[in-house]
Amino acid sequence: MEAIKIVHLKKRFDDRLITKDVNLDIPKNQMTVIIGRSGEGKSILLKQIVGLIKPTSGSIIIDGIDITALPEDELDLVYKRMGYVFQFAALLDSLNVLENIGITLFENGVSRKEIIPIVKEKLRLVNLSEDTLYKYPSELSGGMKKRVGLARTLVTSPEIILYDEPTTGLDPITAHVIHDLMYDMQKRLNLTSVVISHDVEIFKYADNVALLHNGKIEYFGSAKTVWESDNPYIYQFIRGLTQGPIQTEIVHEKDKF
Ligand SMILES: Nc1ncnc2c1ncn2[C@@H]1O[C@H](COP(=O)(O)OP(=O)(O)O)[C@@H](O)[C@H]1O
Ligand SMILES: [Mg+2]
Repeated sequence: MEAIKIVHLKKRFDDRLITKDVNLDIPKNQMTVIIGRSGEGKSILLKQIVGLIKPTSGSIIIDGIDITALPEDELDLVYKRMGYVFQFAALLDSLNVLENIGITLFENGVSRKEIIPIVKEKLRLVNLSEDTLYKYPSELSGGMKKRVGLARTLVTSPEIILYDEPTTGLDPITAHVIHDLMYDMQKRLNLTSVVISHDVEIFKYADNVALLHNGKIEYFGSAKTVWESDNPYIYQFIRGLTQGPIQTEIVHEKDKF
């Protein structure tokens, strides 16, 4: 069964159709990676799934409910079940770990006494000790900050977690640690994970790979067999990553996002 079903999704900005016709079934309780070159519209696709951008047409069906047809006030219920990790968004420097992780709970008026055990549980999930609770971001390593960022997303206990380029800008060792952590979360919490990535190392952890090209999903298959695929887009993508840029007929605009 799919957790998210995307049907004939289109998104237009002025005269440019960015999402042209996306059809994609994202299986429940699995990790699905969406790959594609810079500027292909991966972030725009993810933002439509999490409700930050409204599609021009088509459907996004989450657990059987077409969210594009839902009124605003009912949307919240669906979105509460989703966590969105945008490059493990920066922590707020003036807040300690407890406050950073619990921020949405503090904002909703939950008492400190109730928040502390919840935050401690999330810290354990991301393999951080309770000693970090009152530390400030400046006292944490890069990898620890990423863990705190993930713990913050986990605070609302999402069933679906979406990551946009979680390892971009990280050294390979830290990237590996983050992939391990994402995999561990996936298994322990039995999540549905959707990951946008350039990093082919994620294939080792993922169940499925989807490739977005020219506004459409040009490939969907098992992450185990992706290396043997004779799909020309997959071949070009992998070859492009391992042998540097290649010439194609497609001209990409500079990606400013
Ligand atoms: N708000 C916007 N208005 C108009 N064009 C946009 C907007 N956001 C992104 N784009 C364009 O849509 C295309 C896809 O962007 P994006 O989804 O960020 O690509 P990717 O994440 O695959 O690198 C890019 O050409 C970008 O310039
Ligand atoms: Mg992007």
